[in-house]
Amino acid sequence: MRRSLVVGNWKMNGTLASAKSLVEGILAGIGNIDGDIAVCAPYVQIPAVSELVKETSLALGSQNVADKTSGAYTGEVSAAMLAEFGCKYAIVGHSERRSDYGDTNESVAARFIQAQTQNIVPILCVGETLEQRERNETFGVIDEQLDAVIKAAGIEAFRSAVIAYEPVWAIGTGKTATDDQAQEVHAYIRNYFAKQNQDIAAKLQILYGGSCKPDNAKGLFSMPDIDGGLIGGASLDADSFLKIYHSI
Ligand code: G3H
Repeated sequence: MRRSLVVGNWKMNGTLASAKSLVEGILAGIGNIDGDIAVCAPYVQIPAVSELVKETSLALGSQNVADKTSGAYTGEVSAAMLAEFGCKYAIVGHSERRSDYGDTNESVAARFIQAQTQNIVPILCVGETLEQRERNETFGVIDEQLDAVIKAAGIEAFRSAVIAYEPVWAIGTGKTATDDQAQEVHAYIRNYFAKQNQDIAAKLQILYGGSCKPDNAKGLFSMPDIDGGLIGGASLDADSFLKIYHSI
């Protein structure tokens, strides 16, 4: 009942030329499988990528979006600006934004809302640090991250949103959560939503992110509550990214 989704998050990597050749490589091998695929490019690469993916099944997304509509917010990019280039998705609340750039649960909620005002689907990232996991705080941290967005946007907003569970300790470290560790948290997240609205919970796409690679994607994606992945490092190589996509 839920479509699978694999999203590449290129982070701050590449050049215009490498972005174009990566997209061309992905398009050449995308095939026709039953599942969705997207790439989240750095802002300045979005116009070029937008041209290349037009009328293809590769969707485009951004890695963030402003928490305000417009105005004197130097350095920010609004949801309306992203919509002009056909962005379908916007990542919000990535742990790197939370830890390195001061994003809070409240500002992430505002970004989530801004994306939806332009019919951009927010990909809301949640997840615990290693210290939080070791202190058995994983579920509490996720509750707080989700509560803040539901408080601001309302539960119905999750009819057009995606969740990405990204344990911070697995991001870019080569330490993937085991299939069972990831499934445990995905099931927890789905149950969190089910307590408020069973229909939304059943339809919500929950992606796993954190050192997801061609050799571990199949196991992760075969778990009942894992609907695909948010892929960092392995999305920078067309073959690896396609192998992950073809594992759904
Ligand atoms: O957004 C993607 C995640 O941060 C995962 O990154 O696949 O390089 O661990 P990674």
